[in-house]
Amino acid sequence: MTTNAEYGIEGNTFPRGWFVIAEASELGKEPLPLRFFGKDFALYRGESGRVVLLDAYCSHMGTHLAGASSASLAIEGKQIEGDSIRCPYHGWRFDPDGVLDDIPYHEGPCPSKGNLRSYPVREVMGCIMMWHDPEFGEPEFEPPTLAEWDDPQWVKWGPLDHLGKLDIHPIEIVDNMADARHLGPTHGAPCEYFENEWNNHVYMQRQGGFHKGYQAMLRSRTWYTGPGVLLSRQVFGDIKTIELIANTPVDEGTVQVWHGALYRAPALPITDEDRAAAREVQAGALQAFSSDFEIWKNKRAATSILAVRNDGRFSQGRTWYKQFYAAKDQLPAIRERLNGKITLGDLPPPPAEHIEFEETF
Ligand code: FES
Ligand SMILES: [Fe+2]
Repeated sequence: MTTNAEYGIEGNTFPRGWFVIAEASELGKEPLPLRFFGKDFALYRGESGRVVLLDAYCSHMGTHLAGASSASLAIEGKQIEGDSIRCPYHGWRFDPDGVLDDIPYHEGPCPSKGNLRSYPVREVMGCIMMWHDPEFGEPEFEPPTLAEWDDPQWVKWGPLDHLGKLDIHPIEIVDNMADARHLGPTHGAPCEYFENEWNNHVYMQRQGGFHKGYQAMLRSRTWYTGPGVLLSRQVFGDIKTIELIANTPVDEGTVQVWHGALYRAPALPITDEDRAAAREVQAGALQAFSSDFEIWKNKRAATSILAVRNDGRFSQGRTWYKQFYAAKDQLPAIRERLNGKITLGDLPPPPAEHIEFEETF
């Protein structure tokens, strides 16, 4: 486990942004215990369908709201009441904003000291995402969405690949965005053109190269919306796919990772064959990602990088990443310095074919 300080990350212990915390399909009738950002949470779906994320521990005696499935209240399915939740130990009730609003054996108002914190959550693209802000501010931007998610010609990921926890600092996952030089040795698709662009909370990569495995030109436009959610539009041969990679810090120096891919069927209606092709495309994308994953699992921490002239621009990439740990009032200065596009010495910028791909997909 490597600490923020070793990477020169200053400010908060965990970054600000939207983060995947669960797949929507994981939410049944019971609350789900989660641990991220060095904290424990209880996630549940209220009877109206609203998704609620509260601090895990009841203010009465510290019971984990999602940690007592054998309690009578839980067995009877009575923990969730409307969009509120009752603690399984003595039945105290918290509304979706975390307000303690009923103590079954107490008359008069509930102590406001008993309120829990409730966190902004969104259900997007089959994922539950939370807004994590160490300063508890309102979301500064919205989580990414895709028009394709609601397009019937696109086969959805489902389920996501749950890759579990990795003992690596998430900054090293985001290093991939600048890393033009690993695409050949690691993924078998040496890049022929390359560009990074930083625009406030968005980090973009445009690249293309011949993929040995697919025996086709692979073009991709990949972007982070904040530090935790990557989407990547990719075309190779007649395949169009959109990949998702989500990283969410668990504790300092450890991260949880999810992966998925959407696949565009050649025509409507979608057939079983298309669904099988979609699973194959997701598996192919996972295999490529697994090559990164294996490296991350076994490498030592790159707290400093011995970069040569034509290496990826890791340093700018890390500056972009570190902004999410900084106090909000520092953001304008960081962004003003960083925003813009860069190419890499000997690699050309995206050619006309890439620009056409980007304009049409
Ligand atoms: S510990 Fe939660 S109601 Fe008592
Ligand atoms: Fe990679």
